[in-house]
Amino acid sequence: MNKRMNVGIIGCGNISRAYVTGCRLFDAIELTSCADLRMEAAEAMAKECDLKAMTVEELLASPDLDIIINLTIPAVHAEVTNRILESGKHAYSEKPLGLTVAEGRTILETAAKKNLRVGCAPDTFLGAGLQTCRKLIDDGSIGKVIGGTAMMLGAGPEGWHPNPGFFYKVGGGPMFDMGPYYITALIHLLGPVKSVSAVTLKSSETRIATSEARNGEVLPVEVSTHYTGNLAFKSGPVITMVISFDVQAHHHKPIEIYGTEGSLTVPDPNSFGGPVELSRKGSGTWESQTLTHPYESNSRGAGVADMAEAIIKGVPHRCSGQLAFHVLEVMETFEVSSREGRTIELSGIGNQPDALEPGKPASR
Ligand SMILES: NC(=O)c1ccc[n+]([C@@H]2O[C@H](COP(=O)([O-])OP(=O)(O)OC[C@H]3O[C@@H](n4cnc5c(N)ncnc54)[C@H](O)[C@@H]3O)[C@@H](O)[C@H]2O)c1
Repeated sequence: MNKRMNVGIIGCGNISRAYVTGCRLFDAIELTSCADLRMEAAEAMAKECDLKAMTVEELLASPDLDIIINLTIPAVHAEVTNRILESGKHAYSEKPLGLTVAEGRTILETAAKKNLRVGCAPDTFLGAGLQTCRKLIDDGSIGKVIGGTAMMLGAGPEGWHPNPGFFYKVGGGPMFDMGPYYITALIHLLGPVKSVSAVTLKSSETRIATSEARNGEVLPVEVSTHYTGNLAFKSGPVITMVISFDVQAHHHKPIEIYGTEGSLTVPDPNSFGGPVELSRKGSGTWESQTLTHPYESNSRGAGVADMAEAIIKGVPHRCSGQLAFHVLEVMETFEVSSREGRTIELSGIGNQPDALEPGKPASR
């Protein structure tokens, strides 16, 4: 490839350094600049990572930039992504795309109006583990897929996080924090979701922080903390999902997929690597699978590079706004389905992203 896209970052917090390292793995993008509401955060990152620090307004107005990555907090994702698009640049956001389906829809409309791309995390499904699983399913290794489970089960972040309060406010909870990894991985493996049938609950009105920094602090709970549901996929299978901050211990794998000819265990979708295990019909044993694709370690930025290459070639990108919108719709529908006590059909926006070729990096 003989062209590169220039990239800037808005939001110089915790996750930003992983993006700096990740973006530098890919030839399709050149990370040049950064901005933050807090100028001191932008300046510290610029110094540490050899970037140019700007105000948010300067970055948005910069004529040299093609793509801006939005690494701000979820509450302002939609606002910042819309500003990036309105400034005439392609936007790539951390997850979730927005806090509501209505916010997500506005972003897709702005991108269409401006004829610009919008992309969104997670990009972990471009990694070695989830691409290997996709190939095994597409190659028919477990036959026709019938069902499976997706389990993100934990005791909540108040035991370790230095500032856990926001996890229990609107826009937080286990679904909006961790759901995007699991739902995106499932859509990558099985295609779009047709309908959601769910029951959710809030286990208590308050939680008590036990992390060192906040020990004893009472945290008001505004969101559900235990989400259970069934996702019916257009391609046929039904996946049973539990996403919870109310589980002290368990034995489940993150994702298992069951087919007519065998079963597959899928690695943690919040990581790029394995392990991947397959049990063939009647064997009674699990075989560890050799990973067929690159990127086993943290390569955040792969989705941005894939989008840049897709823009240059004029083809669809994989971590698309439509995919992130579909994920947002599934997450929001868990609450609606539980409240209304019925199965809910989804809008139909969002396709299965194309698989990567074995051995071929996401973008070079
Ligand atoms: N921290 C992680 O391990 C992690 C992992 C995966 C994804 N994420 C996601 O990445 C995003 C950022 O997370 P983080 O942990 O880096 O958060 P953070 O709070 O550490 O950093 C966010 C930064 O955005 C800036 N900011 C907030 N509002 C802004 C605005 N309107 N304009 C410009 N700057 C603004 C803040 O000043 C801060 O520096 C979140 O969406 C989060 O869900 C984080």
